[in-house]
Amino acid sequence: MNTTRKTGALVLAAGKGTRMKSSKPKVLHTLLGEPMLWYVHRALEVLSLSSITTVIGHGADQVRRAFAELTDDAFVLQTEQRGTGHALQEAWPALKKQQLDAVLVANGDTPLVPAARLRQLVEESEARNADIAFLTISLDKPGAYGRVIRDENGFAKAIVEAKDFHPEDHGGEVHEINAGIYWLNMERVAPLLGQLNNNNASGEFYITDLVALGVQQGLTVLAVDGGTDPGLLGVNSPAELVRSEELLRAQIVDGLLDSGVLVHNPAAAFIGPKAEIEPGCELFGPLEIYGKSRISGETCVQSHCRIDSSVIGAGSIIKAFTHLENAQVDASCQVGPYTRLRPSAHVCDGAKVGNFVEMKKSTLGKGSKASHLTYLGDAQVGKDVNIGAGTITCNYDGKNKYTTVIGDESFIGSNTSLVAPVEIGAKALVGAGSVITHNVSENSLGITRAKQKELPRRK
Ligand code: UD1
Ligand code: CA
Repeated sequence: MNTTRKTGALVLAAGKGTRMKSSKPKVLHTLLGEPMLWYVHRALEVLSLSSITTVIGHGADQVRRAFAELTDDAFVLQTEQRGTGHALQEAWPALKKQQLDAVLVANGDTPLVPAARLRQLVEESEARNADIAFLTISLDKPGAYGRVIRDENGFAKAIVEAKDFHPEDHGGEVHEINAGIYWLNMERVAPLLGQLNNNNASGEFYITDLVALGVQQGLTVLAVDGGTDPGLLGVNSPAELVRSEELLRAQIVDGLLDSGVLVHNPAAAFIGPKAEIEPGCELFGPLEIYGKSRISGETCVQSHCRIDSSVIGAGSIIKAFTHLENAQVDASCQVGPYTRLRPSAHVCDGAKVGNFVEMKKSTLGKGSKASHLTYLGDAQVGKDVNIGAGTITCNYDGKNKYTTVIGDESFIGSNTSLVAPVEIGAKALVGAGSVITHNVSENSLGITRAKQKELPRRK
C-alpha cells in the first residue's frame, strides 16, 4: 500500500499461551491446517509494508523451524516473556535499525485479522496524523480483553486490562475492547517506552499502557472503531481457537460454493486457506482438504476423505475414506474407497487404485490397476499393468529401502511378494502366490509356487 511514511510491521508471538494448556507455542496451533502466525503474516503481506518482524520467545526454535522460509533477521528473540510492552521494548532496536517512521504492531494470536482492517488502521492513522492508534471491537461479553476507556468527548483515554478493570471505577462494564493491533509513530513513542511499568495485576509490562501515557503527554491517540468484526478476536484458549476456525471454515466453504464448487454437507467440509479447488468439482462432507492441495474441475471427492498437500487432475473420482498426503493423482483416475496415498505416490492418467491399497514413493502408470489389498512402496509401475489382490513390494530389509520396477502391460498375480530390488519386464506374467526374488524378463512367466500335493487324509 502507499503509505506516506516508511512503515514496518511487528508481530508479537513470544508468549507462552498459558490458557491453551499445551506445550506447543500458541502461535503454532493451527486453524484448518495452518499455524495462527501464518495467517497474521498473510494479512500483513497484503499491505506490502517495508518489513515484517516477529518477536518470538517461548518455543522460539520450533517457531523458526515452522517458518523456515523466513530469514534470521525476520525474528527478534524475547528471552524472558515479561509482557507485550516488554516485547515491544526488546524489538525496538531492530525496528530502529530499519529506520522506520512507523510500525504496525499485531498480536500473533489474532489469526483472522482482515487485511482491510489493518489497512484501515494505517490509513486513518496517517490521515489524522496520529502518534498512537489502535483497533477496537465491541463485544456483548468483553471477557478477558482489555477495555477501551474514552473521555466525555469520545477520545481514547486508556486501555485497562481485564484483570485491572473494576466496573465501578468506570460507571459500569465497558463493551469496547482492544483488538491488540496498534500503529505507532516511532519517533513519538520512543520516549514513552522507558516509562512503561509492571505495577499491575499481572506484574507484566503492557503495550496497552502506551495509550494512557501518550494521552497524558499530549500525543494524538486514536481508537479506530472496528465495529463488531469477529475477525479481530484474539485466540487464547482451545474454545476460542475452534470458534475462530469455524468462522474461517464457513467463509472458505461459502466462497467455494459461490465460485461453483458443489459442496454437499458444507457444514462438515474443512478446507484450508491454501487449497485451490476448481469450479465444477463436487465434494461430499465430511471431508478435510489441507495444505497446498489443488483439485481440477469435474473431480468428485466423496465423504470421509483427508487430502493434504496433494494434486488431483480433472475428471477423477476419489471415493470415500481415502487419505492422500503429498500425493499426485492425474486425470480420469479412480481412487478408493479406503485408499492411502502417502508422500510421492503418483497415480497416472486413467489408473485405478482400490480399497486397502497403500502407495508410497511409487508411480502407477497410465491405465494401470491396483484394485485390492496392495502395498506399493518405492515402486515404478508402467502403463496398463494389472497388480493382483494382495501384492506386496517388499522394499525394506530392516536397514535400506529398495526399488521395484514393473514394465508396461505386465500382470502380477494375486498374493505376490516382490522382494526388492527386483525388476519385472514388460508383458511379463507373475504367477499368483509367488515370492519373486530375481528379475523376470520381458514376455516371460515368473512363478515360485510349490507344487500342490495330494495325500490321504489321516483320520
Ligand atoms: C492483549 C491485550 C489486550 C487485548 C488482547 C486482544 C496486553 C497487555 N493486552 O491481551 O488489551 O484486548 O490482547 O487480543 O497487551 N506476547 C509476547 N511477549 C510477551 C507476552 C505476550 O510476544 O511477553 C505476545 C503473545 O504471544 C500474543 C500477544 O503478545 O501473541 C498478546 O499476548 P497475550 O498474553 O495473549 O495478551 P492478552 O491477554 O490476550
Ligand atoms: Ca491474546
